[in-house]
Amino acid sequence: MKDLKKIAVLTSGGDSPGMNAAIRAVVRTGINEGFEMVGSMRGYQGLIDGEIVPLRSRSVSNIIQRGGTILKSARCKAFYEKEGREKAANKMKAMGIDALVVIGGDGTFTGAKILSREHGIPIVGLPGTIDNDLFGTDYTIGYDTAINTVMEAVDKLRDTAHSHDRLFIIEVMGRDAGFIALASGMATGAEMILVPESPTYIDEMLYMLEKDWKKSKTSGIIIVSEGDDYGGALDVEKAINDQFPEFETRVTILGHIQRGGSPTAQDRLLASRLGHAAIMTLKDGVSGVMLGIVDNEVELTSFEKSIKSHQPMNLELLDIARTLAI
Ligand code: F6P
Repeated sequence: MKDLKKIAVLTSGGDSPGMNAAIRAVVRTGINEGFEMVGSMRGYQGLIDGEIVPLRSRSVSNIIQRGGTILKSARCKAFYEKEGREKAANKMKAMGIDALVVIGGDGTFTGAKILSREHGIPIVGLPGTIDNDLFGTDYTIGYDTAINTVMEAVDKLRDTAHSHDRLFIIEVMGRDAGFIALASGMATGAEMILVPESPTYIDEMLYMLEKDWKKSKTSGIIIVSEGDDYGGALDVEKAINDQFPEFETRVTILGHIQRGGSPTAQDRLLASRLGHAAIMTLKDGVSGVMLGIVDNEVELTSFEKSIKSHQPMNLELLDIARTLAI
């Protein structure tokens, strides 16, 4: 790897709480190590358009506690094309940018992997997504905040469920992964948790619901991951209404509220540690990897591996959650 002088950082894909804390850590570690630091606005789009901003120590003041991303984010369609990536590489060259730190999820790392392979640009990645669906880290930046947001929302909905003897079916995010559903469902004592990692047998679910009601439960919470194979919360509600017209049901789709807000201490710590490690990794001449924390140690995983599969879900937790909700 040639001598690095100027490093760019960007955030791409869905924003997640803690991205700002990660940017801060990358920028300040970079400056401390003698690099010139810049930011690409709106992810890869900023590289294509040359929308690059200087990042000094004071540029990242007062952001550790803020959700979203000061560099803005986007899912950049042009970057899927060879031509778009070539434009980005040429702009980087023209602006003297030697290396990149990308913060995002699987789409971000797929782009990074191809850009690095096609143009020989050193790139490292930080896992920034609420979904927790990347291999090579116990947790992704934003996940802890998201599950706390869901927990607070479900606690509130539980008040109404209890007061009105209602069954709430609550849909949470997680495009292809049910980690948010599992964790928030367990933390709120949900009666049922539906995740894509485990097939949903609707008849079995209805049977269990009936059993609950025979045990004189008068209200309940079902958490449905948006990626569940049966469908979303509205499909689940329909199946319940068809079988039990006497149940009073309500659907709440939590949506993007899960992506915002001030990051928890866990997310700030994770982002700070990984942001620092990103610069040290580039300095060591290592590229093409995502940094994660596994068993409290920083670990490097190739982009290839990090996006291929996510960490396995402990499905036993679904049974435990069910047992605890009898
Ligand atoms: O990947 C993060 C995520 O929040 C998913 O959980 C969700 O399916 C998706 O992004 C929503 O994306 P958008 O904000 O582009 O609608």
